[in-house]
Amino acid sequence: MNKRVAILISGGGSNMVALAETMRGDHPARPVLVLSNNPDAGGLAKARKLNIPTLAIDHKPFGKDRAGFEAALQSALATAKPDIICLAGFMRILTADFTRNWEGKMLNIHPSLLPKYKGLHTHARALEAGDAAHGCTVHEVTAELDDGPIRGQARIAVRPDDTADTLAARLLPLEHQLYPAVLRRFAQGDDTPVNLQG
Ligand code: GRF
Repeated sequence: MNKRVAILISGGGSNMVALAETMRGDHPARPVLVLSNNPDAGGLAKARKLNIPTLAIDHKPFGKDRAGFEAALQSALATAKPDIICLAGFMRILTADFTRNWEGKMLNIHPSLLPKYKGLHTHARALEAGDAAHGCTVHEVTAELDDGPIRGQARIAVRPDDTADTLAARLLPLEHQLYPAVLRRFAQGDDTPVNLQG
């Protein structure tokens, strides 16, 4: 039986598309829902084009009521019944109360070589630190932000003339390779980490 995958996005959804496009044929998983906290996320239209059910749960009307937003999220997910949740550019911090429900079933992609540079502005921070290598990480989601067991990493060399934008642009195609490669293994119950070099 194929694993059911829900993908949570906030923006353009290019990682979501990369994931969805590989979940075909003998792949052990299928996308069952693309959910965005941003009703204007470009990724929603892309998901509809791929015939994946979509849902927007706008976080803004919830204001500071994070628990209320997460209850709405949880209820949508309870209906979709995913076996696996992929956070793909999902820009809301999730509380321990929420992540606990999905421990061992939720993945995230983060644009740094974790444990370096949790949080935002990862490319600028790697440049500032003078790092020779940069990259991205797919990890299991736990209560701690950008923490949890690492399932795969992709590396690129930092060039002397790199800016945050050139690093981001060189990294994105690798994110699109790494995340599907990790998801395939994760869905098969294979916890061998994926390592890619750009
Ligand atoms: C990616 O760089 C991801 O690592 C980051 O947000 C970006 C999402 O892009 N956290 P997309 O929405 O998948 O195109």
